[in-house]
Amino acid sequence: MSSWKEKCCLVWRRLARRKALSEVRGTRHERHEAEFEVRMKTFKEFDNERLHSSLGHRTSRLDKKWRNNKVAKRRPVIAGNWKMFKTVSEAEDYAVRFLEEVKDVTELDIILCAPFTALYPLKNELEESVVHLGAQNMSWADQGAYTGEISAQMLLDVACTYVILGHSERREFYGETDQEIAKKVQKALAAGLTPIFCVGENLNVREEGKAAERVQAQVSLALSSLSIEELSRIVIAYEPIWAIGTGKTASSNDAQEMCAAIRNTLTGLMGLDAEKVPILYGGSVKAENIVELLNEPDVDGALVGGASLDPLGFAKLVHNAAAVVARAEGI
Ligand code: 13P
Repeated sequence: MSSWKEKCCLVWRRLARRKALSEVRGTRHERHEAEFEVRMKTFKEFDNERLHSSLGHRTSRLDKKWRNNKVAKRRPVIAGNWKMFKTVSEAEDYAVRFLEEVKDVTELDIILCAPFTALYPLKNELEESVVHLGAQNMSWADQGAYTGEISAQMLLDVACTYVILGHSERREFYGETDQEIAKKVQKALAAGLTPIFCVGENLNVREEGKAAERVQAQVSLALSSLSIEELSRIVIAYEPIWAIGTGKTASSNDAQEMCAAIRNTLTGLMGLDAEKVPILYGGSVKAENIVELLNEPDVDGALVGGASLDPLGFAKLVHNAAAVVARAEGI
């Protein structure tokens, strides 16, 4: 893996190339020009800060400070993605049991992303609780003749505040493209929903050593047309496809490396504000491995599939994560 300095240089070169390209194409807009200047300036500051910490041979004291900083900058998130599981009565039963376990957790944001049919009953169960409600997909259209689709307004109507977009299962089984996902992200933001935007590489790409390049391209393709204000309202989930539902978790080092690569790309798009965007890891996360993952400086939480299906097991995972946050806050 390249050093911070190399990574910073890479982002710097990309920014310069993008500027040069837009000049050649004559597509330079005033807004982009102004944003570019802000991003270049803040990126220099970011570069110095990260370089300083890597050159300074981060002592454990600095590591602690870093973690503490992380929690101060970004509220951690634990989101359950139920995928295509649970009927209405199963969802209601889950909500009662889960809420009983997590009702006093305040250290992080807890989200349940349920199938569409369970959203309305969950709205009633979770009202005024610490648990937020999310959907697993959404249309880029406002309304109309789109059989089988769900609009942002429909999700808001059932008290959803989050929506998963660009999950690898949507990309793989339903052919969702980066362009469609970009439109969905824009629509969600315009409606006031928080997108949980997913990226991740498959095993071939990882074995070719191109994992960071792939996820950075996914981030750029979907997010580069957003303003800094819009970018600051998203959550990103890094989910390596080879780790989803396989029991193989990425090592915490790998997860950190990829989340840091994503944050680098975000820094290119939004400058130092990238430090405020929560980046989650997803892929065989369990109560047993959440602590190690969450101790990494750029991993701000998890998007959990299989291990979110049992209310007591998921509550344990949430409590383990909350303990990491409480420790970091106490430093
Ligand atoms: P698992 O936790 O079952 O591996 O699923 C991860 C995932 O796809 C969450 O969106």
